[in-house]
Amino acid sequence: MHPAYALSDAATVLSPALVFFPDLIRRNVARVVEMAGGPHRLRPHVKTHKTREIARLLLDAGVTRHKCATVAEAEMLAAAGAPDVLVAYPLVGPNTRRLAELARRFPGTTFSTLVDHPASARALSAAVAAAGVTVGAVLDLDVGQHRTGVPVGDAAADLYKLAASLPGLVPAGFQLYDGHNNQPDRAAREAGVREFLAPVLELRAKVEAAGVPVPRLVCGGTPSFPVHAALTDIPGVECSPGTFVLHDAGYGSKYADLAGITPAAVLVTRVVSRPTPDRVTLDLGTKAVAPDPPLEKRVTLLDFPEYRTVGHNEEHLIVETAGAAKYAPGDVVFALPGHVCPTVALHRDVLVAEGGKVVGRWAVAARDRVLTV
Ligand SMILES: Cc1ncc(COP(=O)(O)O)c(C=O)c1O
Repeated sequence: MHPAYALSDAATVLSPALVFFPDLIRRNVARVVEMAGGPHRLRPHVKTHKTREIARLLLDAGVTRHKCATVAEAEMLAAAGAPDVLVAYPLVGPNTRRLAELARRFPGTTFSTLVDHPASARALSAAVAAAGVTVGAVLDLDVGQHRTGVPVGDAAADLYKLAASLPGLVPAGFQLYDGHNNQPDRAAREAGVREFLAPVLELRAKVEAAGVPVPRLVCGGTPSFPVHAALTDIPGVECSPGTFVLHDAGYGSKYADLAGITPAAVLVTRVVSRPTPDRVTLDLGTKAVAPDPPLEKRVTLLDFPEYRTVGHNEEHLIVETAGAAKYAPGDVVFALPGHVCPTVALHRDVLVAEGGKVVGRWAVAARDRVLTV
């Protein structure tokens, strides 16, 4: 277990709890800034932490560009003083009006969002024009994940030009999110990026030759970050990792080229039962740690004998271990979440630990779908 996780006051911590370690968060931010070649090459995704405090910590590190997935996250960022916020999600229905309202309320922040269909571009334009504001339109390119976005090609160019021509929309660049590009091997991720990059650069040149600027390419998440960070010869590359701030057991054990980034969010849990001689049951159910990784990767228990996770219910995590006899109800166990982002969203607030003890509490402010807008 990382020495920073040891808490002298663990006995008084209500479990299950999620604890953030700001010293480690600052180190992760500093490492990523260094790998990126400066804060101006970053547009970190706020969805991992959803807290005002980490947004401010990034602003203090010189990061001015931010990415988010929800209007609530965008509001939290703008209220924290972020000057440039990309809502990297297709906004439809009432959310177009909500973004327009944010742009009206926070004139010191430049907002942008994704477009990947003429209908949503028109609806966005109508909402922002009605509010008398402008927002950036970032063309969402499908570079292989096949989740959202348009394929790289002539239709993509036409959509971007259409968005640029609509009232209230300003052409703001392309998003290339390659979440599928998550192979452990760095060379495989590099090959993945090489495969989609050349056609994207051709598209950019074509669109710019037609007089429509493409000021930025917003690239990737944490796994492909080291690869995108190395694209220093391409103007306007902004790397958009999110998970790195807190990191987790899932990414932590997988990518050798992310060395120096340390999990900075730890779960404090307790043994609540030892129902059989080889079973230990913890108060770390699916309401405290995200259940989206496969059972065996859902949590990593720290300083714990070899074990196998055999069950996970709303309030219980059940593990089998030959070392169960060492544990009694009430014992504290530390654990890393397999997937930290949805784990954070399960907690209304998190504990903050410094110098080996709990020193405060941060609200997971953008966990709510609606703040004020
Ligand atoms: C559009 C987009 N950008 C960036 C990220 C950040 O990726 P990661 O969590 O790997 O850091 C995500 C993650 O889901 C995303 O969906």
